[in-house]
Amino acid sequence: MKKIIIGNWKLNLDHLEAIQLLQKLNYSLDVDIEEKIDIVLAPSHTSLRSLQTVVDTDKLKIQISSQDVSGYLNGPYTGEVSAAQLSKLNISYSIIGHSERRTVFNESDELINTKVHNSVDNNIIPIICFGEPDELRTNNEFLRFILNQVNSAVKGLRKDKVDEIIFAYEPIWAIGTGKVASVEDAIQVLSTVKEEVSKKSFFDEEKTRFIYGGSVSPSNAAELLNSKIIDGALVGGASLDVEKFVQIIRSIKL
Ligand code: PGA
Repeated sequence: MKKIIIGNWKLNLDHLEAIQLLQKLNYSLDVDIEEKIDIVLAPSHTSLRSLQTVVDTDKLKIQISSQDVSGYLNGPYTGEVSAAQLSKLNISYSIIGHSERRTVFNESDELINTKVHNSVDNNIIPIICFGEPDELRTNNEFLRFILNQVNSAVKGLRKDKVDEIIFAYEPIWAIGTGKVASVEDAIQVLSTVKEEVSKKSFFDEEKTRFIYGGSVSPSNAAELLNSKIIDGALVGGASLDVEKFVQIIRSIKL
């Protein structure tokens, strides 16, 4: 399975800074590495068009993701950005259900499911995030919680509509904290989720990836990313630093 590294820039960088970071990254990457590893950047909505224009003009192979997508298709929903609008920009992926959206913006499982449907209907690959808060891990109830999040997110997805899908395990206690899940923990969760997802009609062994996110850094990347079951990483903080991001990519043994 081709591994994928996604940089989630969150609420950082204006569009000029975003262009600079994209160009610096492109310059720093090993030649043709994108043939072997999918490299994706998720900037703020305001930078999507600028980055996509640079990608098209300079024929870069770095791909672009949005950090979110609306649950609505069009109409009187001030401030929303639809899947069709993103698709028109040739955006390949959308992060959906990130824990920051679930907790800070109170996004429900139902809304996340609608966003997943809107993405696949518009040929955008959803990067579906899920993960438990610290209390549930201590109570040992996290696997049930996670399976519930995953099952809700993919409810009603039909095989004929879905091409690729990415499932990202992001334990809340590991995001932006410097506390990374152990490889064993990440493998346990991702194999459990994979087993569940493999029962779904849309599951495609070749096109469904299971990745990890939460304090991924150059010091822990090699161990996580060279495990067979972990197909990649969603990287927050370290993706804003080109050197660290490139080191993470280079830690994958090809
Ligand atoms: P982090 O963020 O790498 O800064 O922990 C990961 C994420 O939120 O996707």
